[in-house]
Amino acid sequence: MKSTYRCSSNIALVKYWGKKTGGIQLPANPSISFTLRDLYTETTVSVEGNNTTGKPAFDFFFEGQPKPSFIPKLSDFFDRVEREYSILKAFRLHIHSSNNFPHGTGIASSASGFGALSCCLAALEHQHTGKVLESEQISRTARLGSGSACRSMYEEPAIWGIHPEIEGSNDEFAIPLPYPMHSAFHEMMDAVLIIDAGEKSVSSTVGHGLLKGNPFAAARYGEATLHLTEIIQALKTGNMSDFIRIVEQEALQLHAMMMLSNPYFILMRPATLSVIEAVWAFRRDTGISLMFTLDAGANVHLLFPKAQYQQVKNFIESQLLEYCQNKQYFCSAIGAAPVRIE
Ligand code: DP6
Repeated sequence: MKSTYRCSSNIALVKYWGKKTGGIQLPANPSISFTLRDLYTETTVSVEGNNTTGKPAFDFFFEGQPKPSFIPKLSDFFDRVEREYSILKAFRLHIHSSNNFPHGTGIASSASGFGALSCCLAALEHQHTGKVLESEQISRTARLGSGSACRSMYEEPAIWGIHPEIEGSNDEFAIPLPYPMHSAFHEMMDAVLIIDAGEKSVSSTVGHGLLKGNPFAAARYGEATLHLTEIIQALKTGNMSDFIRIVEQEALQLHAMMMLSNPYFILMRPATLSVIEAVWAFRRDTGISLMFTLDAGANVHLLFPKAQYQQVKNFIESQLLEYCQNKQYFCSAIGAAPVRIE
């Protein structure tokens, strides 16, 4: 038995930052993201030999090479999902994974990686037992690997975490946006500027933990909940200026929480701020709906309507590449569900 899936990375518009106490990987606030169609992981899982160890057994290759540094996170993941996947008890797994973007660019691959792996597990479980796992169950599995991975399951924007006004929203798995989206947002793009390709000084998992006992955390969770209400309204009505305000405010609040942590830390670099200022000037001068967001790193994601692709590309290449490490940036369309590869 063998299964191969492609799963896209995603970029949060309202950020998941902080986990609930109790439970495993439950978000302290709800979030919403776009999947990045052209930045993805492809993973093949094959089963070979019986597993006689009594616990999940696997080997893992990343871009053709054994990758011991990924083993602890994968082991935790398999321990968490073991009860739901009988294949883990029955067989030893061979996992081969690769990204279509260069490793070490600071583009988060844990979302696409655990997303693709979870799709493969579900497909193998189906082959083995006939049990069909729906997207929501696969999303739940992916969450147990990395929280943000649960949002990589849908072409539509994905919402994860309980929100009192969104029916079906919950902490266990992500759901697709349950409303039609205004045409203004149908064809968005994301240009990811690689500001710093190095290893981050503080991992996301550690960063989440620093919200425990943080006196600003409760206010931040309230802001995220409000921003989700507002951004959904903007997505429904096509209100681009509200959308831009919320997306940029979320990026800055995420990084503000890092500065307000104890120990405090800063993941933005001087070039991150230079890009933000240039984006604001460009938007003021041209009226083009170009906005920035950030994940837990120095890189800048620039979101814009596809209709403005040429102007934005010219702007990036003439004014922003000087801030990018090795002049690297990657462009992706928005919106993609996982794809089964034969
Ligand atoms: C800043 O999902 O990487 O990108 O659940 O510990 O694996 P773990 O963290 P992770 O955190 C992502 C944080 C973020 C915001 C977001 O994607 O919502």
